[in-house]
Amino acid sequence: MNVVILAAGQGKRMHSDLPKVLHPLAGKPLLAHVLDTARAIGATKICVVYGHGGERVRAALDAPDLAWALQEPQLGTGHAVLQALPAIGPSAPTLIMYGDVPLIRASTLQRLIAAGKDSLALLTAHPENPQGYGRIVRVDGAVKRIVEEKDADDAERAIREINTGILVAPTAALARWLPMLGNRNAQGEYYLTDIVALAVAEGMPVVTAHPDAAWETEGVNSKLQLATLERVHQRNVADRLMEVGVTLTDPARIDVRGELKCGRDVNIDVSCVFEGRVELADNVAIGAHCVLKNCRIGRGTRIAPFCHIEDAAVGADNIIGPYARLRPGTELGTGVHIGNFVEVKNSTIADSSKANHLAYIGDATIGSRVNVGAGTITCNYDGANKHRTVIEDDVFIGSDTQLVAPVTVGRGATLGAGTTLSKDAPPDQLTVSRAKQMSIPGWKRPVKKKV
Ligand code: UD1
Ligand code: CA
Repeated sequence: MNVVILAAGQGKRMHSDLPKVLHPLAGKPLLAHVLDTARAIGATKICVVYGHGGERVRAALDAPDLAWALQEPQLGTGHAVLQALPAIGPSAPTLIMYGDVPLIRASTLQRLIAAGKDSLALLTAHPENPQGYGRIVRVDGAVKRIVEEKDADDAERAIREINTGILVAPTAALARWLPMLGNRNAQGEYYLTDIVALAVAEGMPVVTAHPDAAWETEGVNSKLQLATLERVHQRNVADRLMEVGVTLTDPARIDVRGELKCGRDVNIDVSCVFEGRVELADNVAIGAHCVLKNCRIGRGTRIAPFCHIEDAAVGADNIIGPYARLRPGTELGTGVHIGNFVEVKNSTIADSSKANHLAYIGDATIGSRVNVGAGTITCNYDGANKHRTVIEDDVFIGSDTQLVAPVTVGRGATLGAGTTLSKDAPPDQLTVSRAKQMSIPGWKRPVKKKV
């Protein structure tokens, strides 16, 4: 199967400098959705017809399995497909897709392809409002031609069956038909849709198939349509999650911009964003307003609201947040507690350790059963280089401690509150660095002078 993706249109109504097909839906360019679907149906050759701003499109999405055909100027959909002909093989049939129709499903395309052996197969639909679309003209039930809205008479405009634009044609036939197209029509364009009448004239069967859902063939021409299809897509993702048992407090308030894998009895509260690859094991609960990107959360872990987790692996039975930030390279063992306003970066924290309040843990290796007091900071950066802090098992770090890396705190050590640790702390001892407390008897507070 060849796939030709039409993506040369300018997208003026987006009012944006970004080419239309690069606008993201679920965090991924519109055209990337179409490419993924083309690959999913086993396309052997994919050719993208690009035009305005096309070099940016090509740079963003080029891949070894893609051919690119420049259409300049853009003289219509028939002219667009003509530009792709040199790039595609004549033996396999060709599926035409649109780069700005992101939600078309592989199952629908497969039905169209199955319908279209040695014939011209059109994907048609019956929308509530057919305005703007090309209409399918049938005589005694057989498709005869497509008439564009702007060329249609009143009777034709009353036809409810429309052309979605997606079709499958024998490639050799396309090569015959496309050079024959004219542009004497209301828009002065070379219409791809005129190949239908040419097929009928040749006696080639013209068959139709239909999408399961109306949104599958809806295109993006404006930010409003983009947002509408985004919500359709997110609702589909939410439905799939609920079908496998995930509890969503509100399926209208979740955004998955990548792949979210969930175990059994996972709960996700409102307004969470999942980016990249995220895995939530059994019995995980995610509080409201969390952003999770490329991370794994172990079984039974609870993430309280307003956490931000990126490129991190969180173990089982952790309690994280609210307001925790786990940055890239964070690895947490089992039963770890990370509380509010705690930032962890490029650090491992082993089982049953806790950092419950206001801390910065960067470039650290922390053992098991360690207590990190409020206000603890690993001073990992000397202005030029980063250094590691090692905290062994069963250490107690008092509040407001600074660990000036590189530094090691031995197993079982206690650091007194307020310590600035610049040398290693030996195991099992109390280490404290702070000015000795004193009290001055008879000391008087100054009083304001009278003038
Ligand atoms: C086209 C169909 C119409 C159908 C409708 C579905 C034709 C003549 N008409 O109409 O029957 O109901 O789609 O949405 O085919 N493009 C190019 N190069 C061009 C022109 C268009 O690459 O020269 C691309 C656009 O980027 C877009 C797609 O082709 O992805 C369709 O173009 P658009 O102008 O939206 O088609 P319509 O005129 O709406
Ligand atoms: Ca047009």
